[in-house]
Amino acid sequence: MSGVRKPLRIGVLASGTGTNLQALLDTVQGEEALVVGVATDRPDAVALDRAKAAGVETAVFPLAEFSDRGARDTAIAQWLAERDVQLVVLAGYMALLTSPFLQRFPGAVVNVHPSLLPAFPGVRAIEQALAYGVKVFGVTVHFVEDDGGVDTGPVLLQRAVELPGADDPVEVHEQLRPIEHALLPEAVRLVARGAVSRDPHNPRRVVIAG
Ligand code: GRF
Repeated sequence: MSGVRKPLRIGVLASGTGTNLQALLDTVQGEEALVVGVATDRPDAVALDRAKAAGVETAVFPLAEFSDRGARDTAIAQWLAERDVQLVVLAGYMALLTSPFLQRFPGAVVNVHPSLLPAFPGVRAIEQALAYGVKVFGVTVHFVEDDGGVDTGPVLLQRAVELPGADDPVEVHEQLRPIEHALLPEAVRLVARGAVSRDPHNPRRVVIAG
């Protein structure tokens, strides 16, 4: 029996510039993982250009074309399922996912967020952190579950950075970007290697083997 794993099939959802998508395409693509589709809610997302340049299939799901968010999410989930996606990566996807989507991919959706959760969930996380006056910033990669919350799923990876003099959200984001671009591929690698499980005594605690 061969010990070689097949690459993990990944679907990425992105709404914006797609630098996190690019980080995946530049690192794990064709190695541990295969980004097989990139979907967006925004026809103007630069992430689409990055996907096309890498030869990855794309699809656009504007809310206006569906009766409601649930119908849109069902269509996205179907599109990903048709491509045998095993892990969905939210890389700057700005719409909240509804139950029809999350129940289709239980335990198989991850998100990258620019704060040390549970501090500063939701939009404008860096602005929230600056307004609070924190000295330590960071990035979280977490699972997304059908729990009704925003950025509330179990933490997979976190990394902090001390920025005691920070006062500008753009500068903080510049400091956090390289961390995001390292942490998200690392999370994908760990899932692809089968190194990620849950503590049976505390399912919120994500256990990483090795
Ligand atoms: C990142 O900062 C990510 O943490 C947040 O949205 C941003 C997306 O950036 N969820 P990009 O589109 O990957 O460049």
